[in-house]
Amino acid sequence: MAQVVSTPLDTADLKTTALHPAFGVEVHDVDLREVTAERLYPAIRALFERHSLLLFAAQHLDDAAHLAFGQLFGPIEDRSNARMDGKPRISYGVSNETEDGGVYGEDDLRLLDLKANMLWHTDSTFLPVPALANVLQARVVPSEGGATEFVSTRAGFRSFEPDLQARLRGMSFHHSYAQSRRRIAPELATIEKIAMWPDTEWKAVWRNPVIGDESLYIASHAFAVSGMDEAEGALFIDGLIERVTRPEQVYAHDWRPGDVLVWDERAMLHRGRPWPYEQARTLVSCCVSAGDADGLSAMRP
Ligand code: OGA
Ligand code: MN
Repeated sequence: MAQVVSTPLDTADLKTTALHPAFGVEVHDVDLREVTAERLYPAIRALFERHSLLLFAAQHLDDAAHLAFGQLFGPIEDRSNARMDGKPRISYGVSNETEDGGVYGEDDLRLLDLKANMLWHTDSTFLPVPALANVLQARVVPSEGGATEFVSTRAGFRSFEPDLQARLRGMSFHHSYAQSRRRIAPELATIEKIAMWPDTEWKAVWRNPVIGDESLYIASHAFAVSGMDEAEGALFIDGLIERVTRPEQVYAHDWRPGDVLVWDERAMLHRGRPWPYEQARTLVSCCVSAGDADGLSAMRP
């Protein structure tokens, strides 16, 4: 019989309740400011590996505390390419608030960019180093709408026929930031910070090296399948996303200010939902880059 290993999956000290039968837990009685590499992080990381989505309510982290927690998972991603100092920063990109206290107009490109988040996606598959995790916190929430929805691509992969699973293990997908933005508005695809990223190619299945489970690694950014006609590949990708995002597979998070969600980009798809755009909605985040210990090297075709 296999030996039972208590680390790194020892989560016994943390009180949790399920968010969805297939994935996700709320973690209770933890102040994220008190988490260090030695204290609580190992148990939180074990929950992350196993459940893919973690909710910590009423945290109200400032940027420094938010970054400090994110950094426990790995290096903070810098997708801007505009800042040359390499200093990790919190992203204020998931917000429709203007600097003078208003909100973006309906046809503002920045609102269209937020609407592109409403396609089922995984963050940063278009970057040379993709993300392991996103740590997202609500600052300002609208009176209605504006949920963020999640599905497990691990549960999705598990639900596929063995033949399809075997085919997917041998496949890779091409990803492009411009391609996903073009689906919403062609003008978005020409913005420098979007157009600058060359296409990437990742295997279609990400195996979690800690627990061994496999997930479909897919996103709105995926536009072609290696070795397949481009239009045929795009249809194949759309069909897979449709299969894993059936309504009963979805957990919709209705934000309260101070909520922190952490999710495993290797094993989740997510999307934003609309809200009345005359109201402010501000989420702040940092993404953490994946590394070889997270299974990244095996993802290169
Ligand atoms: C994100 C994202 C969706 C939302 O922050 O990566 O996709 O609900 N957000 O705003
Ligand atoms: Mn996202």
